[in-house]
Amino acid sequence: MVLKYIRYILLFCLLLTVAICTLVWQASSTKEYSRSTYGKMRKLPQNYFIDGPLITQVVYNRIGKCGSRSLNTIIHSLSKKNEFHFYTSPVGNVTRPKILDLMSEVRLIESMPTPMLYTRHIHFINFEKFGHQPPVYINVIRDPIERFVSQFYFKRYGDNHMGMSRLARPWHDGERDLDINTCVLRNYSECSGLKLWYVVPYFCGQSPICREPGRDALLRAKRHLVDNYLLVGVLEDFEGTLQVLEKLLPTYFNGAVKIWKKVENKSVKNTATRNKVPLTPEADAVLRDKMKLEYEFYDFAFALYRQLKVFQLGLDL
Ligand SMILES: *[C@@H]1O[C@H](CO)[C@@H](O)[C@H](O)[C@H]1NC(C)=O
Ligand SMILES: *[C@@H]1O[C@H](CO)[C@@H](O)[C@H](O)[C@H]1NC(C)=O
Ligand SMILES: *[C@@H]1O[C@H](CO)[C@@H](O)[C@H](O)[C@H]1NC(C)=O
Repeated sequence: MVLKYIRYILLFCLLLTVAICTLVWQASSTKEYSRSTYGKMRKLPQNYFIDGPLITQVVYNRIGKCGSRSLNTIIHSLSKKNEFHFYTSPVGNVTRPKILDLMSEVRLIESMPTPMLYTRHIHFINFEKFGHQPPVYINVIRDPIERFVSQFYFKRYGDNHMGMSRLARPWHDGERDLDINTCVLRNYSECSGLKLWYVVPYFCGQSPICREPGRDALLRAKRHLVDNYLLVGVLEDFEGTLQVLEKLLPTYFNGAVKIWKKVENKSVKNTATRNKVPLTPEADAVLRDKMKLEYEFYDFAFALYRQLKVFQLGLDL
């Protein structure tokens, strides 16, 4: 009985194999295609003539107090309008995961349905080290002292939108009322050392050298910026950053400026940090000196941003 049908069964198996092979081959060849295209693009970083539609994986390793909540709001609206997947990591407090977590993070990002944009507060991940194709990175930075001051007060008083809800943390005596100028001038731990080494590690990455404030880390951060980031915008020119994103990644960011203009007033009011007291010139000078390398990175990124916006895209600064 079985013997009678054996050749049909064999034929069926053969056909099934052919079908599976064809599918696998097709999938891998599309991947090859986007890979080679992407390979070409990486040699021309910050270049206008990038074929936007072929980019399907974007990672925004957002930095706190650099406009990331506003940008997330905009991306959220855009994801519906422009039909891409927008994922925000639920992890908000780990920028340097342990190696196993890092590996699952890479696999997670790789496996997300495309086109997608993923965001998390996380230091740069070198996908190639894990044998994966790197996604396109984007980010937004801000004047280092402004960012630091904003965070100092945000931790204490929240902002108009969140109030104190997410900020329940125990403060020791007087710590919450600490004056930022005192903190800086007396070199309290909150205003010195690694607390002032904040943005560079986001671009330098997961390697231990990135934890050491120094030239090696700075150099690596700059290299990653040039090689892996399609755009690093600046909060000081947020609308311009959106304009540039519209040009570079139209399939994701078309209409970004329009959405921003609609929500701008509300968003600026909501995310304004409360109780800010200005730095004295003395404290400002001390901070500026301690954050020299952070400033060097910021100036470098700003110069590239300006060059891209004005000379390559022909937009007004
Ligand atoms: C991060 O937050 C989670 C939950 O909010 C907590 O369980 C975890 O201990 C935190 N990790 C660190 C390193 O602070
Ligand atoms: C300030 O504190 C940091 C550690 O937080 C320390 O490395 C540094 O040497 C101190 N600087 C001064 C001038 O005391
Ligand atoms: C936002 O505020 C500015 C100045 O306060 C005002 O001119 C503008 O019309 C406002 N925009 C919207 C969309 O409400």
